[in-house]
Amino acid sequence: MSYQIAIDGPAGAGKSTIAKKVAKEKGFIYVDTGAMYRAMAYYLLTQNVNPENAEAVEKRCVEADIAIRYENGEQVVLLNGENVNAVIRSEEVGKMASASSPYPKVRQRITALQKELARTNDVVMDGRDIGTCVLPNADVKVYLTAGAHVRAQRRYDELCAKGVSCDIRQIEEDIIERDKQDMTREISPLKQAEDAVLIDSSYMSIDEVVQSILDLCK
Ligand code: DC
Repeated sequence: MSYQIAIDGPAGAGKSTIAKKVAKEKGFIYVDTGAMYRAMAYYLLTQNVNPENAEAVEKRCVEADIAIRYENGEQVVLLNGENVNAVIRSEEVGKMASASSPYPKVRQRITALQKELARTNDVVMDGRDIGTCVLPNADVKVYLTAGAHVRAQRRYDELCAKGVSCDIRQIEEDIIERDKQDMTREISPLKQAEDAVLIDSSYMSIDEVVQSILDLCK
């Protein structure tokens, strides 16, 4: 049996940074499920699909073949055989991922891939519905969150470090909007699984959060 660590939480809570470090410590693979929804969103954007048009999303999403490969321990997302890691991190793709991920056909395709990865590997998987839907029997479940203002400040610092000019109020508004969209959708909304441990990282260092998750694995 594989060992499964599920980390869910809202955008900007630090899930990927933390999950990567936990995976490294444990020698597990890290599965970034948001990247899979982003690859699907990228495909839909390139096809000019309107995310409000359910029929179009459900019809076109089957054309996107999404797969995962690992290169030097890094997850590479393949869309119809092409590495799309470099083009899926934009705000535009993130918004499209949030808008297109509620459709059942999109979720079916992507969650099947996630379940298969977790069946055949020891994993740290992060996302929105991992503990609630994808891996309901995960060995460790964490709901990682932080205040919207703290998350906006982290994103702002990240963008400033890259030399990108931005408005922190706009970032916070976008975060609040994305939380709303992810938490209120009908299918697989973002919520804490009943048996998940809540970690609020607002005033914790990365290493403190990593250690508290490693402690749960004992
Ligand atoms: O974690 P992220 O920002 O890369 O995720 C992008 C969007 O994908 C997010 O707003 C909602 C969706 N998503 C999802 O529905 N289920 C997941 N397990 C992961 C992401």
